Amino acid sequence: MSLRTGSQRLTAVVRTQRQTATRAGRRTYASAATATSNLPAHVRQAIESEARLPNADPPSDSSTARMVHSQSPFMVPTYVKPPPMFEQGQGCYIWDIENRQYLDFTAGIAVNALGHCDPEMSKLLYQQSQTLVHSSNLYHNPWTGALSQLLIEKTRQAGGFNAGKVFICNSGSEANEAAIKFARKCGKTVQPDGSKHELVSFHNSFHGRTMGSLSATPNPKYQKPFAPMLPGFKYATYNDTDSINELVTENTCGVIIEPIQGEGGVNVANPDFPIALRKRCTEVGAVLIYDEIQCGLSRTGQMWAHCDLPAEAHPDILTTAKALGNGFPIGATLVTDEVSSKIVTGDHGTTFGGNPLGCRVAHYIVTRLSDPELQRGVVKKGARFREHMARIQQRFPSIVKEVRGRGLILGMQLSADPTPVVTAARERGLLTITCGTNTLRFVPPLIISEDEIDKGMRILEDAMSVVFEQPGEVKGTDGQQEMRATRETSTFPLLFHNTTRHYMHVPPDARTKQGRHANNGPNINTVAAPGWTTARQAPKSHPSVRPL
Ligand SMILES: Cc1ncc(COP(=O)(O)O)c(C=O)c1O
Repeated sequence: MSLRTGSQRLTAVVRTQRQTATRAGRRTYASAATATSNLPAHVRQAIESEARLPNADPPSDSSTARMVHSQSPFMVPTYVKPPPMFEQGQGCYIWDIENRQYLDFTAGIAVNALGHCDPEMSKLLYQQSQTLVHSSNLYHNPWTGALSQLLIEKTRQAGGFNAGKVFICNSGSEANEAAIKFARKCGKTVQPDGSKHELVSFHNSFHGRTMGSLSATPNPKYQKPFAPMLPGFKYATYNDTDSINELVTENTCGVIIEPIQGEGGVNVANPDFPIALRKRCTEVGAVLIYDEIQCGLSRTGQMWAHCDLPAEAHPDILTTAKALGNGFPIGATLVTDEVSSKIVTGDHGTTFGGNPLGCRVAHYIVTRLSDPELQRGVVKKGARFREHMARIQQRFPSIVKEVRGRGLILGMQLSADPTPVVTAARERGLLTITCGTNTLRFVPPLIISEDEIDKGMRILEDAMSVVFEQPGEVKGTDGQQEMRATRETSTFPLLFHNTTRHYMHVPPDARTKQGRHANNGPNINTVAAPGWTTARQAPKSHPSVRPL
């Protein structure tokens, strides 16, 4: 009863905010604050200029900030989040509770491959939720088997590995957890004394946050607070054949690798490397696990990233999640019949995994994502992204070092911290994320249109020009002078004292100047670039740097 009242109250608050935002226009706080304030004229002007950014982050006196501050005391603080609060999505766009619209190049970290709120998915969720949501793995239901069969058939049709059976669970970490346990069981079957229990994974990989998947993720930032890790994990170097020959031994039960490392920086395996890895695994009798949680399900333009590899490079186990549910939590571990033959009743299980609701939805999503036309579109759209990136690289040759990836999993390697670009892009209406070291990551919905790509990349270029363009490198404008002034001035007053807003500092002599970005109207720079002094430093690890 009280829960209901709480949610009604929340809905009412959101509705009121939306109405207020719509009625009064987008920039209510800035104009309200400046109209009545006795701030000096230059500060008022700066606030008003800032407010002309298409999507200026909600300041500390906004209704969003009030809601965040009232709710955050109740949440374990596992993520640092930027100021907006998202409420609604459609296709490649997402809206915050104050009606700002953002083009979403992140797709919920490579999840919403069909975009936000795909209408057919919503319909199926509704229908199945009225039919059967959950009955447990103690009983049969029509959809766990149907999804398993579809995954096997589509994998074979696409030229993928010789998958024979599927275990369905609820997330990527759980899919990897199952893969790690299956590898250990295979090792135990071969060597009942337990000596064949070691797992090898790779530096810069990301496999998840549960203790098994975390033990396979050799990132000190994630592992150190929870040490010790599980015993028996070793870490090799990606694309280094010598390192696998040394670490993968008779004691190895499994090797886990992402064919394209997502979180680690969009690093693509060299074509020869998986072949060498497969060969070594076969030599020592270890199972080879491909984690395609981020790069699979047509993100590269093929059903799985490994589909273009020869059979000599195919895995024994493949894990998937993320796009599998398009936002509904679900994961799966696909195995060969040989691996499955080592697993017996009771070895592994899950309460929620394989529930009819999730499997019904994933069945539809796999059907859509395995469509060859969609896959051809992914390749074409990937090429369009690259055209833009090549142009941007030409404009910022000292900043853009490299473009990596395939299809619609792309990384733009910068020579500087991209966090300010993420902020500047967001404040211009584009959501992007980072990964690895100084890499901007592009994992948009696979249904994105070419117009949306063009629009987003224009915003990105704009954001980069605000953050990186040096005086002299381009024709001087007021905007450039603002940048120079911002760089040279060591301390500026904060316009908004906002606990969630870390970046905005405006140099005194920039406050009356107008920006150079005709598309977005006049603006001022609100982002501190690397090396600039800020009273409150931008957080080192921006939420977008982290995987879910
Ligand atoms: C390659 C890879 N594996 C595993 C995971 C973990 O998935 P989840 O967050 O669903 O547990 C991720 C998440 O980012 C991932 O990118």
